[in-house]
Amino acid sequence: MNADIDIDSFDINAAPADMDWANLCFGYYPTDYNVRCEYRDGKWGEITISSSPMLDIHMAATCLHYGQELFEGLKAQRGKDGKVRVFRMDENAKRFISSANGIKMAPLPEEIFCKMVRMVVKLNARFIPPYGSGSSLYIRPLEIGITPQVGVKSAVEYMVVMFVSPVGPYFKTGFRPSKICITREYDRVAPKGTGRFKIGGNYAASLAAGDMAHKLGYSAVLYLDPKEKKYLDECGPANFFAIKDGKYITPASDSILPSITNMSLRQLARDMGLEVEERHIAIEELKDISEAAACGTAAVCSPVLEIDDLDTGDKYVVSHDGEPGPITTRLYEMLCGIKTGEVEDKHGWCEVIE
Ligand code: PLP
Ligand code: COI
Repeated sequence: MNADIDIDSFDINAAPADMDWANLCFGYYPTDYNVRCEYRDGKWGEITISSSPMLDIHMAATCLHYGQELFEGLKAQRGKDGKVRVFRMDENAKRFISSANGIKMAPLPEEIFCKMVRMVVKLNARFIPPYGSGSSLYIRPLEIGITPQVGVKSAVEYMVVMFVSPVGPYFKTGFRPSKICITREYDRVAPKGTGRFKIGGNYAASLAAGDMAHKLGYSAVLYLDPKEKKYLDECGPANFFAIKDGKYITPASDSILPSITNMSLRQLARDMGLEVEERHIAIEELKDISEAAACGTAAVCSPVLEIDDLDTGDKYVVSHDGEPGPITTRLYEMLCGIKTGEVEDKHGWCEVIE
């Protein structure tokens, strides 16, 4: 804890650090501070500020052996009006709680989560990318079980850490269409498993498939439902949606992460007068779609050019002469505009950090 740090002396409009803002990748860049909160003796303690990126944890901590780890991802952006906005942090706070309950960890109250977000953004204001750079400040909250234990059971002590990193687009192509693939060789999660929680184990389970896809030149795997392998699930670290007969369609599934971006796009699609269907989507339906995209905090809205089924050899081309489709483009522009204050935030999704 840096007891000498007075958060009120930090200015959200601090001069930006010296970085090549327009060419950042989606990666870890060191910043000044992180914030932490520990759960001990059945209660959450005070939020502390640290300038160290290191954690000092016991070698028998449950996070290291039994995967008691969960995380979130959200972004802060500087708008055209100079204000700094964070998108739907209350939804991330709720999902943080749901993930904690899902793997028997202590849930962090929503108000502490939101307070930590506001603090970590303000403390690192000089790393918020300037408006128009195409980059944003990615906020990464995580929680780990820290009680030393050898038997398979939950910890009784937990640590939440929140750090930030300025980031560029997740998929290298940004808002340029890319190819994704279907494979029946790998599942990310089990049918009644942990797919709807944002826990590290799901991502470990996705690494082999992701690696295979990247080696073949695809930006991500479009996972199928793990039970029947008939329906679409989600797209690497993002949800999937398509436009079919002018409708916004997206998979309903217990084994996917309920994406806050997808939830927001569904609302924007309705606002645009589109019908929205959240339902099972059979693989064969891909031949009738006119647009497709991966959506998520990191991915934002990444258009899909082609979906290749590696097992059957089928290729589903969603081409608009290599350009993103018109509905995907409008949705993307609306979503980005709300985050930068250029489109009216009718649903009250953004919080301005002061
Ligand atoms: N699905 C997975 C597996 C993810 O990791 C993410 C990223 O958070 C998403 C979907 C998109 O969720 P959100 O829009 O809430 O970021
Ligand atoms: C996000 O979209 O925020 C993610 O968490 C994706 C990935 C980096 C895990």
